[in-house]
Amino acid sequence: MNQHARVEEKQIPFIDVAAQRRRLGRAIDDAVARVLAHCQFVQGPEVRALEAELAAFCGARHAIGCASGTDALLLVLMAWQIGRGDAVICPSFTFHATAEMVVLLGATPIIADVSPDTFNLDPASCERAVATAKRAGLKPRAIIPVDLFGLPADHDAINAIAAAHGLLVLDDAAQAFGATYRGRKLGALTTATATSFFPAKPLGCYGDGGAVFTDDDALAARVRSLRLHGEGVDRSDAARIGITGRLDTIQAAILIEKLKIFPEEIAARNAAAARYSDALADVAIVPQTGNQSSSVWAQYTLRLKPGRRDALAAALKAEGIPTAIYYTKPLHRQPAYRDFPVADGGVPASEQLSQEVISLPMHAYLERPVQDRIIDAVRRALASLSSLR
Ligand SMILES: Cc1ncc(COP(=O)(O)O)c(C=O)c1O
Repeated sequence: MNQHARVEEKQIPFIDVAAQRRRLGRAIDDAVARVLAHCQFVQGPEVRALEAELAAFCGARHAIGCASGTDALLLVLMAWQIGRGDAVICPSFTFHATAEMVVLLGATPIIADVSPDTFNLDPASCERAVATAKRAGLKPRAIIPVDLFGLPADHDAINAIAAAHGLLVLDDAAQAFGATYRGRKLGALTTATATSFFPAKPLGCYGDGGAVFTDDDALAARVRSLRLHGEGVDRSDAARIGITGRLDTIQAAILIEKLKIFPEEIAARNAAAARYSDALADVAIVPQTGNQSSSVWAQYTLRLKPGRRDALAAALKAEGIPTAIYYTKPLHRQPAYRDFPVADGGVPASEQLSQEVISLPMHAYLERPVQDRIIDAVRRALASLSSLR
């Protein structure tokens, strides 16, 4: 065996989309073939079928397929007529798409801090952000909590702040569809929820896709219209300014097949995360879920003392184990966002986490021997770093 082949054999994927493809292969091929046969590539029957299944899965009254997670966020913000002069509270420690559509619509994101234990929006900082917005002469309109890395935010606390100040809540569950908070699945916990079906997400399709969930009939009707160029009574009636924000029929057909095995996959992700946490809790800060929530583990993210993660990443890479850092730059440090207001009290936890976090390979097909190899490599690398101190 030559050296190249040896390295390839050792390489572990960070997210193994191909393993799931192998498992589902025939079912997906058949589902796509059915769409190719009926030719309703846009708004075909699979879109409506998927929407019904997604709504039943999470307990929301409405599920509305759309073209991406970003479009899901945009469509809800458009439906609420968020725009110039409005403030929308967003966490700093997130993927920047959370705040992108707020800015695109001319509104101002107020950047709040997260809790270092859960990586999710800190209710106290969220409350302070309301005052920050008012002082800046803005009208606080909405909160976008994020269920980061697959773990639900503290929705009861955030909903209570929203109720006290008359704000709307749009949950950015792009990374967390399928997760539960106090026994209920994300999707029906807030005024509206947006998710992404980007291929690397826990429930991903084979391209771009997303969905909006809500119990609000009027909001659902507006979102359905907005995703179809703002159509009114029929396609030729422009009731409002909208976008092309539909989910493709082929992606819906693929998602129907994937949804069938999703509960099993969530269980497998949880089993892998539990093994990581049991084996690594004494050498790193392992992610917390608390006893109220379950995660779908979009990422499994450790915290290390500042300065150690680069060495850990390099040591693991040398053994064919990839890592990733989500996120090296919190939102308020991103060039496109650094001029927006930060909540009173600042965002120290977001700053700290961006220095400490490192994510390990995580997916539903991470077999126990591979988990063991990763655990062993992390422990050895961290032990050798300690001995250098
Ligand atoms: C937290 C968060 N919000 C929004 C998005 C946007 O989703 P999409 O890529 O489907 O537009 C993502 C995607 O990575 C995300 O992680």
